[in-house]
Amino acid sequence: MSETKKKVMFSGIQPSGDFTIGNYFGAIKNWTELQSIYECYFCIVDLHALTVPQDAAMLRKRTYECYAMLIAAGLEPEKLVLFVQSHVAAHSELSWLLNCYTYMGELSRMIQFKEKSAKQGENIRAALFDYPVLMAADILLYQAHYVPVGEDQRQHIEITRDIAMRFNNTYSPTFTIPEGHYPKTGARIMSLQEPQNKMSKSDSNVNAYITLKDKPEDILRKFKRAVTDSDDKIVYDEQNKPGISNLLQIYASARGMTIEQAQNSCGAMTYAELKMQVAEGVIETLKPIQKRYEELMKDKELLESYMRQGAERAEKVANKTLQKVQKKIGLVLRK
Ligand code: TRP
Repeated sequence: MSETKKKVMFSGIQPSGDFTIGNYFGAIKNWTELQSIYECYFCIVDLHALTVPQDAAMLRKRTYECYAMLIAAGLEPEKLVLFVQSHVAAHSELSWLLNCYTYMGELSRMIQFKEKSAKQGENIRAALFDYPVLMAADILLYQAHYVPVGEDQRQHIEITRDIAMRFNNTYSPTFTIPEGHYPKTGARIMSLQEPQNKMSKSDSNVNAYITLKDKPEDILRKFKRAVTDSDDKIVYDEQNKPGISNLLQIYASARGMTIEQAQNSCGAMTYAELKMQVAEGVIETLKPIQKRYEELMKDKELLESYMRQGAERAEKVANKTLQKVQKKIGLVLRK
């Protein structure tokens, strides 16, 4: 009997700066578990990064860094398909074709477009408006069943489904209809300075976030300065004690515990002790990741060979879907 085929999972991540422990505990760490369960395609979405102004040298550098960091953090290039979006031309090609089946009206309802375009001032790129169509192409090329993303991407998954269903209904079943896979509790790491907001690498205050590259002394300093509150009780209460709750969450994530377990082992500590313990847990978690990252960044050839292999494996699947689409809509295939 043949083994039942694994379900396909696709996700993309932007090469926009260093990953934070929020990205790690909230998404990347989860991916390392998913890579054995699903047939996974994970993609550095450099073309999506171009929807807002980018410095060329910086984009290139960050693409290498993100790719290396994902491997260092536990994604195994032999187990999953880890690739760079622009290495697989089918993403751009399908994106154009899907544009012909997407309406201005539905794109103009996207919250992320409204928010990002408001920040861009006058010259908003057409690509920013079109961002969700490229994302739909990413997902649909691989016939993905599941797409692990944050809550903020819910609307983009919905539009991907709408485009796919519209296409399937117009022609015949072509695309698998994907489902979003949203993180369960325990994945949201908040800012160390304003714990009611999500931790973000674009925060103007560097003390608000911890990147996977931060040195132990910086991690310790940032936790020491973390915002808490004026009583002295260590209990998990997001509403009334967001700072302490966030520290407990990070403690639990770094040590592979539940929130309850974290609360039990920290309940009797002072705030200062809790901060030390959280810092220590994070430093220990990051140590092996940072070591592997340094090794990989020194070996560009190895990194590039992983990228190439990833692109080759991705391309095989992507091109098959692209050809199917081209044929159905009436393009003459090149022979
Ligand atoms: N838009 C996603 C984000 O900002 C990144 C992304 C691009 C993505 N293509 C994707 C996520 C395909 C999942 C699937 O987080």
